[in-house]
Amino acid sequence: MYGMIHRALLNMIEEQHPDPAVRAAFHQDPALFISASTYDDAVTFGLVQKAAAAFDLDLPQFLPRFGLHWIRFAAEGPYRPIIDFMGDSLPDFIGSLNTMHQGVRESMPGAAMPTFDVIESRDGYLCVRYSSCRSGLRPFVEGLFLGLFDRFRLAGDIRVRSLEGNDLEFALTFAPIVNP
Ligand code: HEM
Repeated sequence: MYGMIHRALLNMIEEQHPDPAVRAAFHQDPALFISASTYDDAVTFGLVQKAAAAFDLDLPQFLPRFGLHWIRFAAEGPYRPIIDFMGDSLPDFIGSLNTMHQGVRESMPGAAMPTFDVIESRDGYLCVRYSSCRSGLRPFVEGLFLGLFDRFRLAGDIRVRSLEGNDLEFALTFAPIVNP
């Protein structure tokens, strides 16, 4: 995957890991953190494993946290203008994911982007079909949706159903958080 994913991992370690020695160890191979380079998925998954181990978590525990972090990282960092352009509501944002990923892909020809298709949309409910050439990313995608609930100040619930291949159907139920 693209190095920007590696940089998000590095950023998570830097911001959240309490041990300076662990933070320094992640910097040891700068060649892994070039945003515009593509890396074999095995390299990316190896780095994800290493980050999970650094937090003493297994992958199903770590990946949702990384998904949450990715949304904040993208919204605060160099990708902010793209994120800000994707809509002011959860349905608008999810509805523009494919166009955004396609646009990004034009400048990153080696990328294999997932797709997110809205199957059903009504007040407080979205059913989204996620398709990818990769397997094992379900907890990451759950974390991404949790990050989007946070972004739009929603409280919600996520149910997942496996479809054929790696495809997954996410049923998102949500409501605005009302401050007391
Ligand atoms: C400005 C924001 C974003 C940019 C620039 C971006 C770009 C990318 C890139 C370059 C990849 C790696 C593909 C590859 O190297 O083969 C990727 C993967 C991915 N993106 Fe995004 N993305 C953004 C936001 C999001 C958001 C908001 C979501 C979902 C809520 C999302 C979902 C995913 C997922 C799940 C993957 C993993 C690959 C897979 O599922 O096969 N991305 N994205």
